[in-house]
Amino acid sequence: MAQFAWISPALTWLGGLTAFAVTVQVLDIAFAYLRPSQINRYQHTKNGKPAWALVTGASDGIGKALSSELAARGFNVVLHGRNPQKLEGVQKELQAAHPTRQFRALVADAKNTAPDVFKDIATRLADLHLTVLVNNVGGLVIHDQNVYKPVEAYSHQEIAETMAINAVFPTMLMAALIPAMARGGPALIINIGSMADQGLPLISIYGATKSYLKTVSEAMQLDMEIKGHDVQMLYVPPGAVTGVSHHSSPPTLLVPDSPTFAKAVLARVGCGKTSIIPYWAHALQGYSAAPLPVWMKDIFFKKVVQEMAADRAKPHQD
Ligand SMILES: NC(=O)c1ccc[n+]([C@@H]2O[C@H](COP(=O)([O-])OP(=O)(O)OC[C@H]3O[C@@H](n4cnc5c(N)ncnc54)[C@H](OP(=O)(O)O)[C@@H]3O)[C@@H](O)[C@H]2O)c1
Repeated sequence: MAQFAWISPALTWLGGLTAFAVTVQVLDIAFAYLRPSQINRYQHTKNGKPAWALVTGASDGIGKALSSELAARGFNVVLHGRNPQKLEGVQKELQAAHPTRQFRALVADAKNTAPDVFKDIATRLADLHLTVLVNNVGGLVIHDQNVYKPVEAYSHQEIAETMAINAVFPTMLMAALIPAMARGGPALIINIGSMADQGLPLISIYGATKSYLKTVSEAMQLDMEIKGHDVQMLYVPPGAVTGVSHHSSPPTLLVPDSPTFAKAVLARVGCGKTSIIPYWAHALQGYSAAPLPVWMKDIFFKKVVQEMAADRAKPHQD
């Protein structure tokens, strides 16, 4: 038995190291959620000009809630959308709620990613001291009622437009606006992702565009550091959020409304991470799934999405 005497101290060491690694990870995550928001860092003037934020997809849902929350934190806001009448209504509503702030509407269809669109946007915003850009516009573009389907069931246009609004438009917009934002820094770019970025079946293209947005945000953060630009990137994926154009059921702990989610996004600014699930209950969902082996996650993802598809296919009584 003497030859096995090493097992007990080895197990003690292994247990100690595992407990240490878990504690470091838990503290690292807890610190990111407990650290006070640094959003005020981006609320500075330049040559007497006040700070502005640009929020894409600001005429509804999370974008509208973020615009209101940014205005409450002292920012003037450029509201981007595609529908001038709807934008005008939202602009009036936000102006009434925040009378000391300025709002400006910017109409551009995010499906159109031609070079002139971005030159035009940069020109139209050139007089503003833009310190915050929120790339919020996004979603799954479908031309039938079939949300959950494999790639081969999409039309060419549905694939191209989903990629355009979630990936190409935000990338081109960042490329067009970063030079001025870096000159007027510190500046902040928030990219709204999705927890579908892990690769959910039957919405694979949408999830993959958000995964792209996560990777590009993380890589661009390093670009900024190499170039010495004081521009902070923050990728924030929502789980389910209500109070949006396609979901209006009452909020729950796991499905917050868009104002609650917007507050969580701004609370995570300066958390020390480039990618973070901003809302605590979504984060608990995400972190509890993280240690599972891939095969187990795959079974879970297939089951969950198939149930959502079946639920959507049911005739609903209003
Ligand atoms: N809500 C959720 O459960 C959830 C979950 C995960 C991720 N997300 C992400 O969160 C972001 C906001 O989603 P949401 O739920 O707040 O959606 P929403 O309520 O439908 O709002 C989307 C906004 O984007 C605008 N928009 C859509 N297509 C556009 C286009 N082609 N050109 C210009 N503007 C366009 C809409 O304009 P109109 O008002 O004219 O339609 C609206 O202002 C998206 O990136 C989405 O992928 C949401």
